[in-house]
Formats: sequence, C-alpha cells, structure tokens
Amino acid sequence: MKRLSILGSTGSIGKSTLSIVEQFPQRYSVAALACGRNVDEAFAQAVRWHPKIVSMASEELAGELTARLRQTGVSEIHVVYGSEGTVACSTLPEADFVVSAIVGVAGLEATHAAILAGKPVGLANKECMVAAGEILTQAARRRNVPILPIDSEHNAVHQCMRVGAHSEVKTIWLTASGGPFRQAPLEQFESITPEQALKHPTWVMGRRITVDSATLLNKGLEVIEACRLFDVQPSQVRVTVHPQSTVHSLVEYVDGSILAQISVTDMRLPILYALAYPERPASSLTFDLATLRHLDFEEPDFARFPCLRLAFEAAEKGGAHCIALNAADEVAVEAFLERRIPFMGIPRTIEKVLASTPEAHPATIAEVLAADRETRQMARALLA
Ligand SMILES: NC(=O)c1ccc[n+]([C@@H]2O[C@H](COP(=O)([O-])OP(=O)(O)OC[C@H]3O[C@@H](n4cnc5c(N)ncnc54)[C@H](OP(=O)(O)O)[C@@H]3O)[C@@H](O)[C@H]2O)c1
Repeated sequence: MKRLSILGSTGSIGKSTLSIVEQFPQRYSVAALACGRNVDEAFAQAVRWHPKIVSMASEELAGELTARLRQTGVSEIHVVYGSEGTVACSTLPEADFVVSAIVGVAGLEATHAAILAGKPVGLANKECMVAAGEILTQAARRRNVPILPIDSEHNAVHQCMRVGAHSEVKTIWLTASGGPFRQAPLEQFESITPEQALKHPTWVMGRRITVDSATLLNKGLEVIEACRLFDVQPSQVRVTVHPQSTVHSLVEYVDGSILAQISVTDMRLPILYALAYPERPASSLTFDLATLRHLDFEEPDFARFPCLRLAFEAAEKGGAHCIALNAADEVAVEAFLERRIPFMGIPRTIEKVLASTPEAHPATIAEVLAADRETRQMARALLA
C-alpha cells in the first residue's frame, strides 16, 4: 500500500489523482492533502479520505475547515496552513509518495522538502522545475530520489527513454496541441478574450495552464522542464505541433529511431504511471488505435507565438531568466484574465521583464523565491 501526500488536491490534477486512489484502493491510500482556498472541496475530500493532515493556504481558512470538520464529528484530522503546512504534508513520515500538483511556485518549498526527506515525487508542478530545476534535480540525484513526471509530455518522454541509454538520445520532441488559436490569423490575436483563451481544444485543466497553452508559453515551460528532468541541452529539445494530442511526445535516438508514446488524452494515465512506476497496473484507460485516422505534425509558428521563442531564449540562459519567464507570465496571465491587458500583452510583458533581468544562478530555494518576488514586482510595476 502506497500512502500518498497530494499537494494541490483540490485542483484538476489533485482530483484526478484521487480518482486513481478510488480505482485502486488496494494499492493507494491518502496520508495528507494540501489545498489552497477551496474550503468546500477540502472539507469534502477530508471527510471522504480521512487523511492524517490537511493544509489550507491561510490560518483563517484552516480555522474554517477545522470548525466544519468538528461540526461533522471529525476530530482526528490535523489542520495546518501556509507554506509550513504544505511542507508538513510533503514531509509527513507516514507518506511514501508525494504528488506535487500545486500551481505556481507556491508548491516549490514543499516539493524541495519532500526530496530532502527522501520521498519519491510525482511532479505535475512544472513551474517548480522551471524556477528551481537545477536545485531540485541535484538534490534528487544526490539522494537517489526519483522524480516521476506527471506532465503528459514528460511522462511520455520518460516512457520512451526507458528503452535506450541517455548518451544515445539525440532529440526530445515535445508535442503541442497548438491551443485554440493554432489557425487564427495574427491580426486577431490582440482581441482574443479570456473566454476564448480558456477553451482548450483537447484538455480540461486549471486556468493558468489553459491560457499558457493558448500562448504556447506552457510548451516553453515544458522545454525548460525537459532540459532539467532529462539532463539535456535546450538545443536537444524541439517542439512539434500535433493537433490530435494523441502522440504525447517522442524521443529520437542517435541511430535515427524515433519512439513515440500514444494513449488517451486523460491525465489519469500519466498519474497512474508515476504512482505505480516501475510497474504498469492494468487500467481501463485504453485507446482504440483502430479509430485513429491520421496524425498531423507541424512546425510551431514563432511569430504568432512569441512566448515559445522567449522560453527557448530563457532556457539557454538558465537561472534567473527561467524564474523571470515563469513569474512574469503568471502576473501577465492574471492581468489578462482580469481584462487589464490584451492577449498579446502577455508576451510583451514577459519580453520587457526578461530584458531587465540580470544573468544570475540562484543556489538556494530562498534565493529562487526572492528572485521570483522581485520579478513579480517588476512585472506589476510595468503593468501599472
Ligand atoms: N491540469 C492538467 O491537466 C495539467 C497537466 C500537466 C501539468 N499540470 C500542472 O499541474 C499543476 C496543477 O495544475 P492544475 O491544472 O491541477 O491547476 P488547478 O486546477 O488550478 O489547481 C491548483 C491547485 O493548487 C492549489 N493551490 C493554489 N495556490 C496554493 C497555495 N498558495 N497553497 C496551497 N495550494 C495552493 C489549489 O488549491 P485551491 O483550489 O484549494 O485554491 C489547487 O488545489 C500546475 O503546475 C500545472 O502546470 C497540469
């Protein structure tokens, strides 16, 4: 029985993880749940799963959850809060595996703490790897702690890399659906609304990642994530637009063979893979290859999707530029969703922030978080 600590349990990945626990009760149980602000969902999950601890984003929300649990007669669940609370969840001695699925750098400290505590991590939170990938992967390698990617593309790469040696890998090909504006003319991009950007053609996800998929910044973050997770150079990672989202990614070996991973577009499959690795439990997440008519692959258009170019540039520089890329984007996406800037204001904001970011390589999580805060201030000042 693997006991899970799920960071971001109230989100899209968190709920999919719980549905895997539901399907495999003989394999998985819930030890800890770290939530943000959604008290209703946290309450329902706590009552259903009876974890040892639950964390909320603030003291006030933790108080609200405690009161509701007590009213229901549940008194044995310990409710904690803030970043200390998420760290308590990720380092809980009773937890054997940590699912890192908080959105943004809010999940960074807890993910780092899990690795330091020697817990295998299933990583969905790509922002963590982008902001502090060098620190996280070094800590994991030193302690021999596995980081198993949940992001579908990296999960596919992980699967394709099981069949060859690292030195034999030539190129990692990350597939991108192209988002809802793959074929939209450039002149329409300025007037794209939040409602249009929040309609992803193939995946149902959280708000930030959905907008990031529309700008292709998400694919840029994944390029950086791939460099860190698989220890390759940015020049070894390429993006191909594949609208069917059936091939989740590919690995090209030096002999010319290209291996691809194909499956349903359902995040429960990469979550199950990460939880069960190195086993492959039988599941109902099947894909009928006979229904597949064609697979399209296109070059990404860097002119219409400048966020992808900016991400490759940040990947080459590493360190502070990757932190700035992620932080500036988060601030800009928030402004776009609040209708304070147009869609193309997102890449413009990121580009200005990156131009003012000095080259630096923060060596600790505290330095990463400080650089992240500075960038956010810079981005907010620019937008004001
Ligand atoms: N969804 C996907 O298909 C997918 C695919 C690949 C990778 N990812 C990555 O997985 C991560 C999660 O994505 P998602 O789509 O699941 O996002 P989401 O639906 O927006 O969920 C985010 C989760 O983070 C929690 N959270 C936010 N701020 C927090 C804080 N300060 N402290 C503690 N918890 C906090 C939220 O809690 P509340 O809701 O309670 O506020 C929620 O549980 C992201 O890094 C994303 O890039 C997602």
